[in-house]
Amino acid sequence: MIKKGIILAGGLGSRMSPLTKAVNKQLLPLFDKPLIFYPLSILMLAGIKNILIIVNKGQLNQFRKILPEKNNLGIRIEYKEQSKPTGLPEAFTIGEKFIGKDSVSLILGDNFFYGQSLTKILKKNISFKKGAKIFLHPVKNPNNYGVAHLNNKNKVVSLVEKPKKTKSNLAVTGLYFFDNKVVEFSKRLKPSKRGELEIIDLLNIYRKRNILSADLIGRGGAWLDTGNVKDYYNASNFISAIENRQGLKIACLEEISYKNNWINKQDIKKSILFYGNCDYSKYLKSLIN
Ligand code: G1P
Repeated sequence: MIKKGIILAGGLGSRMSPLTKAVNKQLLPLFDKPLIFYPLSILMLAGIKNILIIVNKGQLNQFRKILPEKNNLGIRIEYKEQSKPTGLPEAFTIGEKFIGKDSVSLILGDNFFYGQSLTKILKKNISFKKGAKIFLHPVKNPNNYGVAHLNNKNKVVSLVEKPKKTKSNLAVTGLYFFDNKVVEFSKRLKPSKRGELEIIDLLNIYRKRNILSADLIGRGGAWLDTGNVKDYYNASNFISAIENRQGLKIACLEEISYKNNWINKQDIKKSILFYGNCDYSKYLKSLIN
């Protein structure tokens, strides 16, 4: 059972500059909430209450203002700073103490997931015990991502980071489940040609041992890129369209906690005071009235 989750919210966000020169990308608005709410909501939907957020050095106080360690969400948030981003697997060495003897989920701070089947997929996989699990999604431009090639038994037979030529359109999304070996395996990695420790190299260690499995987030679900400004606004418009149509919010953290019975009406009232007079608070009011 996975009870711990790491959100990697460091990085330079250089493709979004100048927006990201003074503010961490994960704190920028994705429609009506800071981007970090979305990956956090995914961990919470999976039932994970122990969360480590890794941020850039010097940006801790910005994050604490919106997601304090002791907050009303009924979850436990810890922070660690990263002095210089050296690749995604660094999350497991920075997070070694937090992980302890447990399994862990990693989600990248800028990944947006949506879809009815998603909670079902998460709940199905959360009881996972050994190995590593990845979540794949078909995309038009697989060469921008890690790409998985499956055989006819849905077994992952190859995993390549940003290949020029692709055998498959299945991108490896930024959500991963790992057993405790991940800490040890991460320490073995060497930087790639682009000078980073690669998550794909880490996953390939699991694949070669036959303990990597993959689940598909099919076409009924959405995994949207927030990597560059254009994609960022497309994702924002997607959220706006759905929320305006349904009158329901995507990634309302209090709503998820309330439905999980982690917080009560009083806690929601505290959140309303904290956020002040805004649409998000109006939505929270509607949940408890
Ligand atoms: C990283 C991973 C890649 C994965 C992607 C998902 O890419 O290296 O395998 O498909 O996240 O968002 P990067 O964002 O570093 O280009």
